[in-house]
Amino acid sequence: MIAIVVHGGAGRWDETERDGAVAGVRCAAAAGWQVLESGGGALDAVTAAVIALEDDPLFNAGTGSVLNAEGDAELDAGIMAGDTLAAGGVACVRRVRNPVLVARRVMEATDCVLLAGAEAVRFARDQGFADYDPVTGRRRARWRAARARQAGERLVPGTVGAVALDGNGRLAAATSTGGRELKRPGRVGDSPVPGAGNYATAQAAVSATGWGEFMLRMAAAKTIATRIESGESPQSAAAAVLEDMERIFGAPIGVICLDARGAVGIVHGTEGMPHAWRSGGDDDFKARFAT
Ligand code: GLY
Repeated sequence: MIAIVVHGGAGRWDETERDGAVAGVRCAAAAGWQVLESGGGALDAVTAAVIALEDDPLFNAGTGSVLNAEGDAELDAGIMAGDTLAAGGVACVRRVRNPVLVARRVMEATDCVLLAGAEAVRFARDQGFADYDPVTGRRRARWRAARARQAGERLVPGTVGAVALDGNGRLAAATSTGGRELKRPGRVGDSPVPGAGNYATAQAAVSATGWGEFMLRMAAAKTIATRIESGESPQSAAAAVLEDMERIFGAPIGVICLDARGAVGIVHGTEGMPHAWRSGGDDDFKARFAT
């Protein structure tokens, strides 16, 4: 049994971008599936899927990330291996192309779990990650428009993520984001923090999208994983935490998750969350804008 699920962020999507976003998540799922099908591991599969989404300028991660209050892209990403509980993350990194790869390098080449800011960028350069500007003209134009109308508005974040189960029964999760548009410089969201927006164990893998401050406070991904470990289905576990988040914080989120048998959970409380998945004997990918 192998399985992959990816999402491209819960939130508000322009009608004109929905088809492109669905095509993007399908491509990302295919990239991850190819790794799994050729015998690769879950970690490599989620890495490949998230790279595809970071490189697609439609999504709020890597190239095309939203900009903070000062007009800079500060990126967060996290990755976790379920079999070892190894985890790595970067927060507030600037001028890198694929934050998920830097997060993975933190996991594999340091004794840290999280690196942040300028020192994380210095680590990335030391590790050979080239200087790269992820800011696109489209995001810059949107940032100007958002800044002009920002008073009182709660801007909806997007994020990308992937969960996978490999042929050896190992689960992994990876999540990457530009965070909230117009965020305070230095702000860190849930995506790089194990248990908040990203988590994996031997029995569950979870990637979440939504308002990071609330997910940090709920330990949302860990809560979902714990429910799955207690025998709940991924769909039911994700739906329960989504309901709690809406009740307690009034904050709609999106979640993708998997258990060790390849059962899939996909929920969102927003109007859309482009997502794609393939599991076990499915003969093709399923890709949708909304569930
Ligand atoms: N979930 C993405 C963020 O709030 O940063």
